Amino acid sequence: MHALNTRADSASLAGKTIVITGATGGIGLEAAVELARRSARVVITGRDPARIEAALADIRRRSGSNSVEGLCADFASQAAVRRLAKEILARCPRIDVLVNNAGSVNPTRTLTADGIETTFAVNHLAPFLLTNLLLERIVASAPARIVNVASVAHTRGTLDFADLNFGNGYSIMRAYSRSKLANLLFTRALARRLAGTSVTVNALHPGTVATGIWGHGAPASRVAGMLFNAVFAPIKRFAMLSPERGAQTITYLAASPDVSNKTGLYFEKNRPKEPAPLASDDALAERLWQESTRLTHLDVA
Ligand SMILES: NC(=O)c1ccc[n+]([C@@H]2O[C@H](COP(=O)([O-])OP(=O)(O)OC[C@H]3O[C@@H](n4cnc5c(N)ncnc54)[C@H](OP(=O)(O)O)[C@@H]3O)[C@@H](O)[C@H]2O)c1
Repeated sequence: MHALNTRADSASLAGKTIVITGATGGIGLEAAVELARRSARVVITGRDPARIEAALADIRRRSGSNSVEGLCADFASQAAVRRLAKEILARCPRIDVLVNNAGSVNPTRTLTADGIETTFAVNHLAPFLLTNLLLERIVASAPARIVNVASVAHTRGTLDFADLNFGNGYSIMRAYSRSKLANLLFTRALARRLAGTSVTVNALHPGTVATGIWGHGAPASRVAGMLFNAVFAPIKRFAMLSPERGAQTITYLAASPDVSNKTGLYFEKNRPKEPAPLASDDALAERLWQESTRLTHLDVA
């Protein structure tokens, strides 16, 4: 178990606008509650209108704040991410913190309407696109922060630019690990571009947290799914962090004065940690940046 946040616990965030993606459940929802409690204006995103409404009611009830709004976009669609960015820009004259948290796993290989393997599209290309579309507003709001929710799974990730779509040899973990390695490389390449702007960008591993993401890895057949859940329920209950604790490194990086001038780093338990060697490879980070701009049709150097 890791220590609770330090000074960030009590700091008021009044006047700040914080956008958190994927906050209809899990650690994103808990981070939204905590940041709303500290009086930030919180804008959450999800992909299902009913789940967004339920999350908004929950955040308002638990935080006591009404300054919470929801927007809908499926990150598997680049057109939807572009619409989301427009809506955020229309609503938010400033963006003090962007938390790229939405993420998923996919038991079988599927391609999005944009022709990209879904895990890579949702977990890496969507936040890459969203961040770049919001970047001018974030820089204009400086000092500001970008927080990327990665994972220790990045240590098992590899990048094969000749087969980003896993046409050969898909597995749920290979796809997930690649997408999380991409989160770290994106953080590194973006930090380099943001030098001198007073906008920081950091990545984190939230711990192993009992959230809905584990259910997405369950086998599709009914019997195997039941067996998976029976084995998994006690693990979730006794060996994993609660979503509330899992959210702590997010709120720390989003709000703590301790990290106001830290950038380009990877955090675990509120402390910087050396990521895997591949995640510190600047040439790889640049190559991924160029490939990601091509795949998202973005014109950013
Ligand atoms: N839980 C862990 O142990 C763990 C460990 C390391 C890293 N992480 C990372 O933590 C982040 C949050 O995960 P979590 O554990 O809190 O999982 P979760 O409970 O499943 O929450 C994921 C959030 O992302 C949203 N999302 C998923 N796919 C989306 C899509 N295609 N378009 C838009 N939104 C989408 C979900 O929306 P819906 O409500 O519609 O599903 C939900 O709000 C992820 O980036 C994950 O990789 C988690």
